[in-house]
Amino acid sequence: MNSTRPNWTSRYSFILASIGSAVGLGNIWRFPYIMGKYGGAVFLVIYLLLILTICFIPLLAELAMGKTLKKECIGAYESINPKFKLLGFLNPLTGILISSFYFIVGGWIINYIYLSFINYKTADYGGYFSSFIQSPMLSILFTLLFLFICIFFTSRGIKKGIEFANNVLMPLFAFLLAGLIIFSLSLPNANLGLEYMFKPDFSKVNPEMFLAALGQALFTLSIGMGALLTYGSYIKEDKSMVKSAYTIIFSDTMFALMAGIMIFPAIFSFGLEPDSGAGLVFVTLPNIFAKIPFGNIVSAAFFTLLFCAALTSGISILEVSVASLTERMKISRIKASVILFIIISLIAIPASLSFGGLHNITLFKKSIFDFLDFTTSNILMPLNTFFLCIIAGWFLKIKGSQFINNKFFAMLFDIGLKFIIPVVLIGVLVAGLK
Ligand code: PHE
Repeated sequence: MNSTRPNWTSRYSFILASIGSAVGLGNIWRFPYIMGKYGGAVFLVIYLLLILTICFIPLLAELAMGKTLKKECIGAYESINPKFKLLGFLNPLTGILISSFYFIVGGWIINYIYLSFINYKTADYGGYFSSFIQSPMLSILFTLLFLFICIFFTSRGIKKGIEFANNVLMPLFAFLLAGLIIFSLSLPNANLGLEYMFKPDFSKVNPEMFLAALGQALFTLSIGMGALLTYGSYIKEDKSMVKSAYTIIFSDTMFALMAGIMIFPAIFSFGLEPDSGAGLVFVTLPNIFAKIPFGNIVSAAFFTLLFCAALTSGISILEVSVASLTERMKISRIKASVILFIIISLIAIPASLSFGGLHNITLFKKSIFDFLDFTTSNILMPLNTFFLCIIAGWFLKIKGSQFINNKFFAMLFDIGLKFIIPVVLIGVLVAGLK
């Protein structure tokens, strides 16, 4: 075992950082817009079903794999069998691809915080958003700024960087979210938004919806990209891994639901459309903020909230590659961070230009940005999770009885990890891609 590897200060720091990783743009930006795209409550039902049935086992297995092997992703897979090295490498690779669109959205957030402070108002938020994301200078500048802020924390290491950011930002995030929910629910016709979220229309169900829900579930829980494996590898002692896994899943789901409860009532109260896509929180919400008293303060609170959430997740996405670079190449965290900054910029810059100058370039009929978002969440994360289950179940031989006292549930875990989850993952992947 490597004695120079860092550890979490306490179990609390580990859980908080893992919740920080899980709760991010996935909950507040992606979840509402994907839910809006797939018809509201019916998507929510499928999503919750997948979270409850499919996600617990791989999440626990990924954490356990990290905790058992105490290595970064590539080394962890390689130590089970050298042939698995490439599969391990898919994790930081997926992370780098996710970063390349995640940090663009992070950049948008910084711009919107700035707009709230200068109390910027326009009659056409849709027009403003498109011209902003099409402007090469601005979008590259803000993307790199957000990347720089995240990398700054990651480069400082576990205790001084990652734990510090999570300890400060997560409580601030919860506080702002609670305030905004109260505000949103007090608006006239807020109940229409709640109905949209909680009254399903099952006639809209289709296989693509299952794939979208699976992609969203894995993305929001940070499963299948090595983030949990890496965070798990810094655990010194955790006697109740099951409880930690539940806490992460429960908190993440609560935050996603709360984000919906904050956003949909406001949208319906102002007679706006819930299915406006990736621009939902950047077009629809500013429209609302402009119409309410003290809108700029509410707007500043909302985008700061989004910033905190994105930052703690962004840090975890980067940590996977930083850990791999430092441990494999034996270089300092600072050097690893600089290398990563350069690699991610090289992909993020063209992706951010895909809204403007490079909009003609498409991959499988998608813009570079949409392609990165779709491929990472809906293809690479399910695939990585599939490999994770197979390797953890069949080769590392992780057993439910290692952390679950109840024999029946321990057996269910084993069957799930080795058979059911891999089959379901591949089934949903194939059916959804057809
Ligand atoms: N879970 C994060 C979110 O919801 C995104 C993320 C994906 C973080 C994969 C780490 C790994 O925003």
